[in-house]
Amino acid sequence: MSSPIKRCTMNLKQIFSPQQINSRVQELGKEISFDFRGRSLLGICILKGAFVFFADLVRNLDIDLEIDFVRLSSYGKQSSSSGEILITKDIETDIQDKDILIVEDIVDTGLSLSFLTKNLQSRGAGMIRICALIDKHERRQTSIQVDYPGFILEKGFLVGYGLDIAEKFRSLPGVHEVDPDYIKH
Ligand code: IMP
Ligand code: MG
Repeated sequence: MSSPIKRCTMNLKQIFSPQQINSRVQELGKEISFDFRGRSLLGICILKGAFVFFADLVRNLDIDLEIDFVRLSSYGKQSSSSGEILITKDIETDIQDKDILIVEDIVDTGLSLSFLTKNLQSRGAGMIRICALIDKHERRQTSIQVDYPGFILEKGFLVGYGLDIAEKFRSLPGVHEVDPDYIKH
């Protein structure tokens, strides 16, 4: 059986190997565990893209942790943000005064995270920190601060390790860049 990469019609270039991701996730786990030592934390995974990263990250956290999941709609099938964000699956935990770590796959314009952060604050959350596998700067439209960036990139459209293009390639173990000629803005 051929691999999803061989079957695909667009060119994919590996940017981060599974080994590179694994060692970076371990580092992030240590850093976050150190910063939150002695405290409890609610980790909120933004579905769907962050599910692989979240599963790896939480297993590298040595702290008292609860988890929950939220799903936002922002992109649809397009590769650029519409600017309108909706919660399509809400968290189920009482967040009053809780310290929260939002875990995102990739921050692009920052509109999704800016929306979610404000939403959680308005519901009484305690301290909110943001961890993102990839902090992508070129199209940033907000002043959102990624406290724990896995990797920082200027631009590019990435797939794999949870990230998709039109729902494809989420299951690839590494992160790959899609040929820019394929992306239509
Ligand atoms: P933002 O609101 O523009 O920051 O959008 C962030 C969301 O857009 C991420 O959670 C992803 O779902 C999606 N996104 C942004 N850039 C990429 C990419 O390079 N590959 C896959 N999804 C992306
Ligand atoms: Mg996403």
